[in-house]
Amino acid sequence: VAGPGASAWALDPAVRHLNHGSFGAVLNEVLERQTEWRRRFEADPSRFVFNDLRPAMDRARDAVGEFVSADPIGLAPVRNATTGIASVLRSFETLLRPGDQLLTTAHDYNAVRQILRFTAARTGAEVAVARVPFPIEDPVQVTESVLAEVTPRTKLAVIDHVTSPTALVFPIEDIVAALEPEVPVLVDGAHGPGQVPVAVDDLGASWYTGNLHKWVCAPKGSAFLYARADRIEMTMPAVISHGYNAEVESAEDRYHELFDWLGTDDFSAWAVVPDALRLVGGLEPGGWDGVMKRNHDLVLEGRRLISETARIPLSAPEEMVGSMASVVLPDATGPDPGGDLSPMMGDLFDSGFSTIVMNWPGWPSQLLRISAHLYNTSDDYSALAERLRT
Ligand SMILES: Cc1ncc(COP(=O)(O)O)c(C=O)c1O
Repeated sequence: VAGPGASAWALDPAVRHLNHGSFGAVLNEVLERQTEWRRRFEADPSRFVFNDLRPAMDRARDAVGEFVSADPIGLAPVRNATTGIASVLRSFETLLRPGDQLLTTAHDYNAVRQILRFTAARTGAEVAVARVPFPIEDPVQVTESVLAEVTPRTKLAVIDHVTSPTALVFPIEDIVAALEPEVPVLVDGAHGPGQVPVAVDDLGASWYTGNLHKWVCAPKGSAFLYARADRIEMTMPAVISHGYNAEVESAEDRYHELFDWLGTDDFSAWAVVPDALRLVGGLEPGGWDGVMKRNHDLVLEGRRLISETARIPLSAPEEMVGSMASVVLPDATGPDPGGDLSPMMGDLFDSGFSTIVMNWPGWPSQLLRISAHLYNTSDDYSALAERLRT
């Protein structure tokens, strides 16, 4: 941890953190503010829940709406993107008939694929997988691969904004424009907000779920689900609570009642999202645009250093890179023999690098994914490149 204001992060300074993508990272100040919220709750739980919680939820909803250019009416807090995806699939289930298809791509996230498989098993639907190539040369290849899988039986498409194993920024605007309204799209934006500009209303997808605990650097357990105005009424949380019979005046009010209270929980992560947005965005001149540009430029430099030093070819054009990049490790490293942690990742941990090395289903070699956020400097990547070379 050596970037500007490095000590402001909760990260262990003895480690080179190059896997922001999996679980994000937080500023100490954000953690302190979260602790204040927790203390407020614990100091007077009833008053907190019946009096203070709603304004805090609404304040965060408005801040998120502004950040991702979404009407706050369609925004619901969820604990993570997994829950956002599961909520939509559960809501959609009643519309599915045997033989219908749920469309995804080969670059999707394993947990999301399992939700699709689970939904398919319950309804008799099938999961169709668009074989987006990798390495890739042009974003148009993504759109073409997705469209090639669409049939009259395609009822819902779940498409990543930024992919997990391959770290590709998909041309999500083109894909949504090509599919909607005939095929509703649920955008898996787990890696979107804070890594790439997100304009949810303009995008026009039926749903968008995004994590705030990744690139926005809010505490763990802060994410959102957005439903387009015409999807609000059918969109239910995966867990049903008081909101189901709440006295409400509109479908929008019911939607908020349903999602804002899923039972007793720790609401502090969501409550401090506005602080994370302000504090992290304030660390770079140019605010969040400056943050995203710095991280993008840095990860490109890191990728180049690794490619040159360890002689690993690049797998994607710069325009498809956000603040993460995946490289294909040479065949000599072989496939991961299995187990929880690849031996290579374990070796890198032991050498002071926190990275992720993945086996990607159907892919013969391992992928190494790096990331860049404000606490990183180019030194992190030259050190990693040297370690990879040796
Ligand atoms: C593409 C993608 N979707 C969904 C998720 C799930 O996010 P969470 O674990 O916060 O639910 C991840 C997590 O890394 C992801 O990369």
